Amino acid sequence: MRIDIITILPKLFEGPFSDSILKRAQDKGLVEIYLHNLRDYSTDKHKNVDDYQYGGGAGMVMRIEPIAACIEHLKKERDYDEIIYMTPDGVLLEQGVSNLLSTQQNLLILCGHYKGVDERVRDLYITREISIGSYVLSGGELAAAVLVDSVIRLVPGVLSDETSALTDSFQDQLLAPPVYTRPPEFQGKCVPEVLLSGDFKQIEQWREDMALKRTKERRPDLLK
Ligand code: ADE
Repeated sequence: MRIDIITILPKLFEGPFSDSILKRAQDKGLVEIYLHNLRDYSTDKHKNVDDYQYGGGAGMVMRIEPIAACIEHLKKERDYDEIIYMTPDGVLLEQGVSNLLSTQQNLLILCGHYKGVDERVRDLYITREISIGSYVLSGGELAAAVLVDSVIRLVPGVLSDETSALTDSFQDQLLAPPVYTRPPEFQGKCVPEVLLSGDFKQIEQWREDMALKRTKERRPDLLK
């Protein structure tokens, strides 16, 4: 899989992409991530990528020309399965979308800033608009990092224990059950006996029951 990201703050991605699972996925050659600095596509002498909004009002708008130049340049090299715009007014990210995106070959992600991008960018180029939650971040970069993380861990071969992504919360519309490791008792709190029983049928049943209980208590919306 190849992921291209258009951003005015490429440095923001250095941390999340250079450690742990995302680093390993790249080292193994399973995923390639390329960052494109939008300012490199500005013909403006100050490399500006934003301007005042028509009609007045506070806040700048990202201009279409540098974005179009960057996207057109990348599209000449390959076809993208999706061109995604990270925006608080997008569709809320859910596991199903991450699952779907993890099966694609080429993704292009555009990170917004200020008041967002000129609407014509969305009309002309964007195939999917994604929000990671009902709150406003300073820019789309952290949201894009969240999206990329949730997608890459699903790419076959990325996780060493392939089944572990399948037992994640949300994969079956349920939250994951509680987990424990040693010691069996800590400050009077004991690991549930069934987990120490060695009876795998019972353990499986307990996990299912706990997943359902937790989902009912915390995310009843998932059960509808
Ligand atoms: N950009 C700013 N806030 C965002 C959010 N909540 N989700 C996606 N992109 C964003």
